[in-house]
Amino acid sequence: MALYSEKVMDHFRNPRNVGSIENADGIGEVGNGKCGDIMKIYLKIDGDIITDVKFETFGCGSAIASSSMATELIKGKPLSDALQLTNTAVTEALDGLPAHKLHCSVLAEEAIKAAVRDYYDKNGIPYDHSQFPDCSAYCH
Ligand code: FES
Repeated sequence: MALYSEKVMDHFRNPRNVGSIENADGIGEVGNGKCGDIMKIYLKIDGDIITDVKFETFGCGSAIASSSMATELIKGKPLSDALQLTNTAVTEALDGLPAHKLHCSVLAEEAIKAAVRDYYDKNGIPYDHSQFPDCSAYCH
């Protein structure tokens, strides 16, 4: 069996939503201290809807595929969907990742949640801190 699914290879070779958003409403940047990979998510939010999302990932192929898939999963969706997104959902949507690459999908979940939290912080919107992963060591 191939190490990577066709979906992973597709999103790695043709990543969706690559780039940045000028005047983004929320920006989340996270990194993994072990592999050194960095992921940045930009959100455009209108009311409660994520109208646009883009990413910049300086990392491995699985991180690029995970960011691409994660952005597809939340684009056009309410913020609550982004907050419920798990790395497991990203991995399943990619038809799986090798065990030693699961942390790449965790980065996507954390970057999206960090971007939502940034939006809440910038707009003084109160939120339940337990909704967010404890990424204080590396969230910006
Ligand atoms: Fe670290 Fe993929 S190897 S994000």
